[in-house]
Amino acid sequence: MTVGAARDLRERNKIPRMASSMNCLTADDSRYQKAFRLFLERSSEHQCMQEFIRNTLPQVLTSIAQGKSSINVLGVGSGSGEMDLEIVSQLYQKYPGMTVDYEVVEPSGEMMERYKALVSRSPNLEKIKFTWNQMPSSEFERHWKTRKSTKKMDFIHMIQMLYYVTDPDATVAFFRSLLSENGKLLIILVSGRTGWGKLWKTHHQDLCSTEITQYVAAGEIRSHLDANGIRYKAHVLQSTMDITECFTPGDEKGELLLDFLTEVSDFSKCASPDLKASVMSTLRDPGCSSVVDGRVMFNNNLEALILYP
Ligand SMILES: C[S@@+](CC[C@H](N)C(=O)[O-])C[C@H]1O[C@@H](n2cnc3c(N)ncnc32)[C@H](O)[C@@H]1O
Repeated sequence: MTVGAARDLRERNKIPRMASSMNCLTADDSRYQKAFRLFLERSSEHQCMQEFIRNTLPQVLTSIAQGKSSINVLGVGSGSGEMDLEIVSQLYQKYPGMTVDYEVVEPSGEMMERYKALVSRSPNLEKIKFTWNQMPSSEFERHWKTRKSTKKMDFIHMIQMLYYVTDPDATVAFFRSLLSENGKLLIILVSGRTGWGKLWKTHHQDLCSTEITQYVAAGEIRSHLDANGIRYKAHVLQSTMDITECFTPGDEKGELLLDFLTEVSDFSKCASPDLKASVMSTLRDPGCSSVVDGRVMFNNNLEALILYP
């Protein structure tokens, strides 16, 4: 079933989404940002992406940049820009004289300020012209269509952001339509056979899963691409997250990490005892995590999909 179809089914059946006493983490930008930073500290998320960008992406960048003196790049849901600048660094290593027109689409003001600060303290970015679009991808799409822009993008990336749009398939289709002849679209999402897959399949109806925060793994996007004959290459990125602290009652960081896992703000305090016990048991399930040197390591494997125009 496609993501859109699953959502339609939910709407038709009016499945209750979550207990009213629980609030979605993404509705509290400041707590979401804190939880995301902690997730990055406790996981190898950015490390495995870095490895992919350094070892695999250069071949992709060659195919888009060869023979050009300037290229157009678009980052969607770039967060505070660490992975964006890693990509830029690979571009510069291959094509030192290249000028880059770089558009960033990011709705969170806090994330964007962090990104700008990172740019201002990073050397060798003189040849990059950044355009900051502080808005969600849907608004960017509306602006783009209103302007009737004919600009084409040589490289677009959507790293860990498709969970937050109402229609991931339509979002992918819009951004793919912006690609130049040799352009590429990079999508990174969690892989289905991970702790996330197990957790969401078991509990997505109990937890915060609103119209704009949903479970979508790379497999759902791949099914859609396959069904529509869209060419892509898939790469698995191995990653884990240390969730040991989640099992220490009252541990502040453990509770914040639990919020990130469940997408519920203050999950420990707001969830019913039954739901909490059930989620904690799922997190210990071998489908979610394994114990390594006494630490509970959650399977956070990702998939990178590189789409052709
Ligand atoms: C999990 S973070 C990933 C950030 C960054 N790409 C990374 O991997 O470090 C998700 C990002 O998507 C952004 N986001 C949420 N909803 C969005 C939307 N509708 N359009 C674009 N970005 C969105 C969030 O503000 C956040 O910065």
